[in-house]
Amino acid sequence: MNTEKQSHVLIIGASGGVGQALVEYYLTVGWRVTAWSRSRLSITHDALSCVQVQGYHPEQVADAVASLADLSGVISTLGVLHNAEFMPEKHLGAVNAEQLEASFQVNTILPILLLQQLVPKLPRKAPAFWLQLSAKVGSITDNYLGGWYSYRASKAALNMLLKTAAIELARSHKQLVIAAMHPGTTDTGLSKPFQDRLPADKLYSPAQSAARIAAVVEKLATGDSGKLLHWDGTELPY
Ligand SMILES: NC(=O)c1ccc[n+]([C@@H]2O[C@H](COP(=O)([O-])OP(=O)(O)OC[C@H]3O[C@@H](n4cnc5c(N)ncnc54)[C@H](OP(=O)(O)O)[C@@H]3O)[C@@H](O)[C@H]2O)c1
Repeated sequence: MNTEKQSHVLIIGASGGVGQALVEYYLTVGWRVTAWSRSRLSITHDALSCVQVQGYHPEQVADAVASLADLSGVISTLGVLHNAEFMPEKHLGAVNAEQLEASFQVNTILPILLLQQLVPKLPRKAPAFWLQLSAKVGSITDNYLGGWYSYRASKAALNMLLKTAAIELARSHKQLVIAAMHPGTTDTGLSKPFQDRLPADKLYSPAQSAARIAAVVEKLATGDSGKLLHWDGTELPY
């Protein structure tokens, strides 16, 4: 009898381009998957539990958190670059409080509050991972182009929060890796308005990005905790 426990990943933001591809990837490789999304997912599978949430504020996910057990790791894809109200700012004059607040809410505040709520569900004495998709444009060192104020700043702040949590949690969860990752420019609703000038070989399908993210997760070691990683597993500067 095979007594080995099935690995179990929670995907947060499972109806997004990368989120849905991650759900499909992990089911294909035999993991148990819990998928949180604000909209109903159309995928069904014996190993998939779909949880429709109203949003990702602590009170909106409390029941979903309570029902989780035996997690191996979490991948949060939450992120916003543009929506019906705003597009990324091209110049200083376009910066405004509403866009900054909305971007920080989704890209920075919700991810760290989710980590806070979910830490008790991650094993203290076994390998575990928390991966939040971030973005290379959130690297302060790598910012040569300017623009995209809210997105850049909110992802940079996210990276700082994750690094800070990684330092603290290394004391209580010695095998937990907390990392931020740039998935590469992926053909999803988020990148759609900016794909025109991109060389075709620099735009990846969601399935490609999901497989690459999972390959990095597979190789994560405790020394990676607190890092901003590129989709190829190399470290990006903050
Ligand atoms: N696509 C790219 O080229 C690219 C490049 C660099 C970094 N990234 C990062 O990769 C991650 C996934 O991006 P994606 O391309 O898959 O984007 P996407 O299709 O737009 O998905 C984004 C996810 O964020 C959640 N979300 C968006 N707005 C929200 C809001 N106002 N409140 C709560 N949740 C919200 C959604 O969750 P629901 O499932 O609940 O709707 C959705 O699943 C993001 O963090 C993004 O910044 C993407």
